[in-house]
Amino acid sequence: MAYKGLISEDILKHADIVKVVGSYLNLVKQGKNYKAVCPFHDDTNPSLTISPEKQFFKCFVCGTGGNAFNFVQKFEHVSFPDAIRKVADIVGYHPEGLEAISKPVKVDEKKEALLKCLYDLNLYYQFAFNTPDGKEGVEYFDSRNLDASLRNKYKLGYAPKDGKATIDFLLKKGHSIVTIEQTGVMRMISNTNYRDMNEGRVTFPICDIDGNVIGFSARRIKNDDSAKYMNTPETYLFHKTNNLYNIHIAKDACKLKGYIYVCEGFMDVFALGKIGIDAAVAIMGTALTNEHIQILRSLNVEIRLCLDGDLPGQSAMMKIARVLAKNGIRFRVVDNQGSSRDPDEILNQDGKEALEEYLNKLVDHNDFALNYYLRSNPLKTNEEKKALIKEFLPVLLRINSQIELDTYLRKLEKITGFDAESIRDLLRRTRESVNAGEGISRELFQNFHPEREALQKLVTAERELLYQMSQNKAAVSFYEQKIGGFYDDIYRQIAMFMVEYAENHDDMDLGGLIVLVEESDLDNKDEIIEDLTSMAFETHPNKCDENLLNNLLETINGEKSRITDEDILENSLKGKSELEQARIIAEFRRRKMNK
Ligand code: GTP
Ligand code: MN
Repeated sequence: MAYKGLISEDILKHADIVKVVGSYLNLVKQGKNYKAVCPFHDDTNPSLTISPEKQFFKCFVCGTGGNAFNFVQKFEHVSFPDAIRKVADIVGYHPEGLEAISKPVKVDEKKEALLKCLYDLNLYYQFAFNTPDGKEGVEYFDSRNLDASLRNKYKLGYAPKDGKATIDFLLKKGHSIVTIEQTGVMRMISNTNYRDMNEGRVTFPICDIDGNVIGFSARRIKNDDSAKYMNTPETYLFHKTNNLYNIHIAKDACKLKGYIYVCEGFMDVFALGKIGIDAAVAIMGTALTNEHIQILRSLNVEIRLCLDGDLPGQSAMMKIARVLAKNGIRFRVVDNQGSSRDPDEILNQDGKEALEEYLNKLVDHNDFALNYYLRSNPLKTNEEKKALIKEFLPVLLRINSQIELDTYLRKLEKITGFDAESIRDLLRRTRESVNAGEGISRELFQNFHPEREALQKLVTAERELLYQMSQNKAAVSFYEQKIGGFYDDIYRQIAMFMVEYAENHDDMDLGGLIVLVEESDLDNKDEIIEDLTSMAFETHPNKCDENLLNNLLETINGEKSRITDEDILENSLKGKSELEQARIIAEFRRRKMNK
């Protein structure tokens, strides 16, 4: 053993730790040492120190450290002897006797036998394209634009209908029935009757990170009621949750590109491959497991989530994004841009450039979450807008950078019309409350008055006038002649009802008004009725005379002019149908020209 020790020490002397670690991580020089983002814990600041002088690395946060061999061993999850060989490769120093070290100590014979069997089986499937039976497979792949060279690249195949012959072939090749059984591809019916599980389907071999076939997914060719894809069951080699489809190809491609796309299905990986992006894997469904995360983390490149644009894909991606964020993994999300398609469909329907463009529309976690929220929640009323802010408080709390926070607050301001400063203020109070161990309380939120000062005055005046209108027809006609439309969405709707009511009645009456609203088919009826009901319980001291009405008019006009025209326009367009938006914009232009 002393001999081996000497060789490894010799290699270590030739293996500059900066070169070795630098082949995996970005290093920044700092004084005598180098720094890097630590790959061994959820690091964001570079806390890994690499000392050329001591020839050691150490993370002062998680405590991981050691020499060049230890680094490779930990980073690549390999044995110590394998790490020695890898270090020798990195520095290009291969002394005599090296092979003796890196030979695996114990060969896993069971694994070897299974791998050999699966390898032979996959060749059989590939060869089956050339049989009369296999024409169906060729036609199927042709119909999905997977030509011979792509079929070859991904080692796709066809499992002949005579599944017994397939197993017999493996037996003739010398694989034992036990081994064949353990690969998971055989269905045993009786001692003399057995079948290939994949028979009559096209086959997608699933490989481990080194490119060994460890299992299959097999797709039906015709739309019958069998499962669309069938996977090899759990075996000694094949654990569905551990595998990322195409990882053996993507692991190298992603190093060059600095990113890796994570898709749902095989066809998506092929679509990306067709346009030159080999840095893509599929999770074969919508679940990202802990094992997947470990593999992705060790690649140390940007993860680009690209699940299908449909609802299941998007909501799975929301979950995955949260998990990745929690694990401190660097990622962005391909924005589905309102489409419900997957990359394969985009390529087939719109072509290469369209898919390239699609894949390059990347948003960060916060923007993705915001887009997702906006797509699946209404955002018309003040309450709905407040609900949005409430939903995103935890997100805001997690943002560390001032610049990022400002950008995000401005976005929320634009979307909700709420002043960024009042959201910031709410955030400050929330942080205090969270730090005091009280969590995000309801009260905090009830004290949240996001309307801008000008808006608040305006809306208060509008509300006063609305109340007077509920009592007095004179106020209604004053509104019709002098105001024409309230700024506040709900008030404007209520006023419309009041105008209609006044036309047909001698006196205003809140009870009657509610009946009119009930009979309409508005989808925010409840909200309007709630407003009218609370109005019924109010008594306002002001006498409704010309003086009061003129004062209100003055406040309303004054405050409106303090808010920019564009603000008013933008706010009044929210949640409207296209037709209504066009009408509002036309009206806006007309008024602007008359000014
Ligand atoms: P095509 O319909 O062939 O275009 O495939 P797709 O990739 O668009 O399929 P889909 O979006 O429905 O599903 C994504 C991935 O989930 C597939 O690539 C499979 O890996 C997996 N999957 C889909 N259907 C099944 C199924 O019936 N059984 C199993 N085990 N996996 C499935
Ligand atoms: Mn799909």
